[in-house]
Amino acid sequence: MTPIYLDNASTTQPDPRVLAAMAPYSSEHFGNPAATHAHGRTAARAVERARGILADALAAQPEEIVFCSGGTEANNFAILGTAWAAPAGKRHLVVSAIEHASVLAPCAWLETQGWQVTRLPVDSEGFVDPGDVRRALRPETVLVSVGQANNEIGTLQPIAAIAAICAEQGVPLHSDACQSFTRMPPPPADLIVVNAHKIHGPKGIGALRIRTGLHLEPLLRGGGQESGLRAGTLNTPGIAGLGSAVTLGSTEESIAIAKLRDDLAAMVLDAIPGARLNGPRGNRLCTNLNVCLPGCSGRALVAALDRLGVRASRGSACASGSTRPSHVLTALGLSPQDADSSLRLTLSKWTTTEEIANATAALQEAVRTLRSHP
Ligand SMILES: Cc1ncc(COP(=O)(O)O)c(C=O)c1O
Repeated sequence: MTPIYLDNASTTQPDPRVLAAMAPYSSEHFGNPAATHAHGRTAARAVERARGILADALAAQPEEIVFCSGGTEANNFAILGTAWAAPAGKRHLVVSAIEHASVLAPCAWLETQGWQVTRLPVDSEGFVDPGDVRRALRPETVLVSVGQANNEIGTLQPIAAIAAICAEQGVPLHSDACQSFTRMPPPPADLIVVNAHKIHGPKGIGALRIRTGLHLEPLLRGGGQESGLRAGTLNTPGIAGLGSAVTLGSTEESIAIAKLRDDLAAMVLDAIPGARLNGPRGNRLCTNLNVCLPGCSGRALVAALDRLGVRASRGSACASGSTRPSHVLTALGLSPQDADSSLRLTLSKWTTTEEIANATAALQEAVRTLRSHP
């Protein structure tokens, strides 16, 4: 059987059109975009073209886009760059408890440096209460960080309501949009993080939108690239690939993926006794399904499915080696045991009806085997 790839929240298969858009910048148009000669100018034009595409997609201005090495760097830059630029005496951040590790880890590190961090709880479907954001704000708060779509359970946060509170209180909002980029309208945030490899683009490239007027200290110092905000020779092939990937998504495509995901959810919940949905029924990212399958370890399920030709995951790829239960699922109120018995299946524009039927059959077989030989 051809493998069925249902781990698209972890990474997606590059689109051949993206690869074609990148290729010239690794071969004949190899120039350094910072160089002033013709080779450099050709590369710089590709970079600026992609910057314009990103700006349009994020409802921003081109000069507000800073390219960097991916979502992890962009999240670190947003948080640490804001913290390091904050006036003395303002040392408080607000972050949702279910953010990606690349958001939570820099916040935790700041705590070791004397910062205070308020972690917002979520309800049983993973939603942040905008009222909690309002109550968490203090005169010394420098940033609120709430991702647009959760990478494990797909919860789409009430980001417009949160943005309105932040704007009213004059506190910048950072939103990690790596999972939702091009699948949803952009979050109305001051700092927006996106990357390419979740949208059929290359790995190792992403961008941070910094709203004009905000001051961030750079993470990387060196040459004056990216207006002095991010030193280092620009990754022209990656940037061209990111720009190309952004042009490919559409609302119709997201609707079609959501329909297939709903079909998969219905089949899995129907076929497997005791299966339960993790995360919301509505306001959920189109590509995401996460289910609790009591009586099976998630790790064993992923391995059993792999042997049956289905690629799935327990949750975040960065945590796949961890034995700790997911911080996202436990924040919803799942017991460590139920969190450990959960599986994430994530679709793409290339997932087919036949694949979801075959994946359901494989999952049914894997669960039956694991339950009979625990
Ligand atoms: C929500 C979210 N944020 C950030 C990242 C990190 O992005 P990158 O792999 O580009 O460093 C990921 C990907 O794993 C993600 O899903």
